[in-house]
Amino acid sequence: MPGIGYGKAILFGEHFVVYGMPGIAASIELNTTCTYEKKVSGGITANDLVTGETINYGEDKAKKLGQVIQVILRETGIKEKNFRLKLSTNMSLMGGMGSSAALGVSILSCLNKEFSLGIDDKRINEITFEVEKVFHSSPSGIDNTVSTFGGMLWFKKGAANTVEQLQIPEPVRIVLIDTGIINDTAELIAKVRKQKEENPKEFEKIFASYSELALKAKNEVEKADWKKVGSLMNKNQELLRRIGVSSSQLEKIIEASLESGALGAKLTGAGVGGNAIALTPEKELQEKVSKKCSALGFKTFKVTAGIKP
Ligand code: MEV
Repeated sequence: MPGIGYGKAILFGEHFVVYGMPGIAASIELNTTCTYEKKVSGGITANDLVTGETINYGEDKAKKLGQVIQVILRETGIKEKNFRLKLSTNMSLMGGMGSSAALGVSILSCLNKEFSLGIDDKRINEITFEVEKVFHSSPSGIDNTVSTFGGMLWFKKGAANTVEQLQIPEPVRIVLIDTGIINDTAELIAKVRKQKEENPKEFEKIFASYSELALKAKNEVEKADWKKVGSLMNKNQELLRRIGVSSSQLEKIIEASLESGALGAKLTGAGVGGNAIALTPEKELQEKVSKKCSALGFKTFKVTAGIKP
């Protein structure tokens, strides 16, 4: 039985969530799967989705995937020494879709079933947060939370995180549009932190605007008023520009999406590279935005946001 880890799109609040402000993120159909194969010898092996190489855990502990396996073995107490993990994905990697969290959830769900570990979603989420640290050093926890629980989530980091399922009538159609440029989340978090230290007054204002916007967004998402949600996403994008995480490629995609009628468009994830999200509740609109961005040479994903695994 494969383990599945779902990807995510952030509708509101990337970067702001790192500073304890609330965000809204939704799970999407794109995912990573992990299957288990017992071996008689040869140690623990797995295929790295980013590099394509097969890593041997015993020899490659320093590599990211080796570190992920180390965290998972440590946290689950699995003693088995010989097995192969077969990983596959249809997500953009290092592209703002939460691929590292999906990786953690897929491996953990797979091993949970294989070894009858009996760990619940709460624990899967906690361990995947440790996996996230391997990749992003100081993650907020939003990606692992949405990959574990799915749905449309209101998330706020804290001594205990606030996680609330927002009830929407049905998952909403979106288009994710890939700049084709990979992003380094840890680096971008550090960049924003530096900017904040250099411009404390400006950031205070931006943070206050965002906090106000997030509360409005929650209200409109709960009403499924996608027109208003879209307009707030555009405002969120303005704030993301001001904290320095947009880029010419993202702006080109956003402009094209809005011109095609998307109700809102912004970057999703850490920014600069990665993906943009366009809000397109109607099927024809989703098609139109996707076509327009494909014609500009970008890879697009027509998905729904807020699926329950
Ligand atoms: C990454 O998907 C979103 C960031 O806010 C980082 C995080 O919350 O861990 C940039």
